[in-house]
Amino acid sequence: MDSNIIYLDNSATTKPHPEVLQTFIQVNEQYYANPASIHEAGVEANALLIRAREQIAGIIGTESKDVIFTAGGTESNNFAIFGTAQANTHKGKHILTTRIEHPSVLEAIKRLAQEGFEVEYLSVNEAGVISLDKLREKVRTDTILVSIMHVNNEMGAIQPIEEAAAIIHAQSRAIFHVDAVQSFGKIPVRFNDENGPDLITISGHKIHALKGSGALIFRKKLTVAPFIVGGGQEYGLRSGTVAVPQAVALAKAARLAIEAMPEKRLQYEKWSKDLHVFLGNFGRDIHLLSSEIGAAHIVSFSVNGLKGEVLINALQKHGIIVSTSSACSSKQTTTSHVIEALNVIPSFKKGVLRLSFGAYTTDAHIQRFKKVFTVIMHDLKGENKE
Ligand SMILES: Cc1ncc(COP(=O)(O)O)c(C=O)c1O
Repeated sequence: MDSNIIYLDNSATTKPHPEVLQTFIQVNEQYYANPASIHEAGVEANALLIRAREQIAGIIGTESKDVIFTAGGTESNNFAIFGTAQANTHKGKHILTTRIEHPSVLEAIKRLAQEGFEVEYLSVNEAGVISLDKLREKVRTDTILVSIMHVNNEMGAIQPIEEAAAIIHAQSRAIFHVDAVQSFGKIPVRFNDENGPDLITISGHKIHALKGSGALIFRKKLTVAPFIVGGGQEYGLRSGTVAVPQAVALAKAARLAIEAMPEKRLQYEKWSKDLHVFLGNFGRDIHLLSSEIGAAHIVSFSVNGLKGEVLINALQKHGIIVSTSSACSSKQTTTSHVIEALNVIPSFKKGVLRLSFGAYTTDAHIQRFKKVFTVIMHDLKGENKE
C-alpha cells in the first residue's frame, strides 16, 4: 500500500508494527524448533511460548495455562461455541446470543440450532446495546452458553459485560463467552475474580500483530470440548504444532497495545468527538450509527440516499481508505444484520461508512478526511443521488 494512503480501516485489519514483525522473523530464524520436542532447541522454543502465554495471561488476568493459542478470532469463537455446546449438553441445550454478533459467532450458533439446540437472540436498542432486563428474563437454569461481544465491529457499541456476567452467573451455570476482538488493546478487557466472562476471544491482526494469530482465554479451567484433535497440544484443547512466532508476536503486540492504551484512548476520544460533531452538522443527510458513548476507535454513519460503495470510491480517489459497515459484509449485496438490528430507516440502509482508527492514525488524517468528505458530499448531493 502506498505510504501516503490515509488508512482508516483498522477494524478490518491493522498494519503489523515493525517491531512485531522483527520479533516474528527473529523467532522464525532462531527458535524454529517444535516446542513439543525434548531436545534443547525445542525447550528453548517452548520457553518463548510459555513467556508469550504468561504475558497474555497477565494482561487479561488469568493463569498462563488458561491461554490457548489459535489461528485468530474466527477460530476462537468457533472453539468457544462448539466446545462449550459439545461438552455441556447434559446440563441443557439453551443458548443465548445477540443479533449483532460477528458472523463467526452467529454462523456457529446457527449450526447448533440446526442440530437441535434452542437458540434465543437478544435485540439491541438504537445505540446497539442489549437490555439487561431482557437478559435477566431469558437466562434459564438450562442455559449452557451465552455469547455476547464486547465491542461491535460495525458501529462500536459497547455491551455491559460485567453486569451481564453477574446476571448470567447468578441465574445459571452457563459459560459466558465474550468476543473481545474489537475491544482488546483499545479498552480494558479483563476477567473479574467472581463475576466476569468465562471465555474471551482475541485476534492478533486487529492489534498490529499478524493475521492468523489469536487466542481463546479461559477464566479458569472449564468443561469445554477440544476443538481440533490430534497430538494434544495446548493442554489437549487445540492440537497442532503451535505457531510459536505468531504467539510471541501476538504477546508483543498485546504488550505494546496495553502500554499505549491510555494515550491512544485520549486521541481516539478526541477524534470521535470531533467527527461526531462534524457529521452532526450535515443534519438530515447523515444518520450517526456510532455514538460518543461507544468505543472511540469506531465512527460509523450513513448518508441518506447514497450507496456506501460510491462514497468509498470517492474517498479512495483522494487516497483515503474506509469501509462500509464491515469487511465481512462489504462484498455482500444484502444489508448487514447489524444495520437491520438497529432499525435504520430504508433510505439510510445502503450508505453506511465506517472509519476505524489504529496506532498509525494521526490528527492530520482526521482533518484531511473532514476536508475531503465535505467536498464529496457537496459533489454527490443532487443528481448522483439514487
Ligand atoms: C468482532 C469480531 N469478531 C471476530 C472477528 C474475526 O476475527 P479474525 O479475522 O481474526 O478471524 C472479527 C473480524 O473482523 C471481528 O470484528
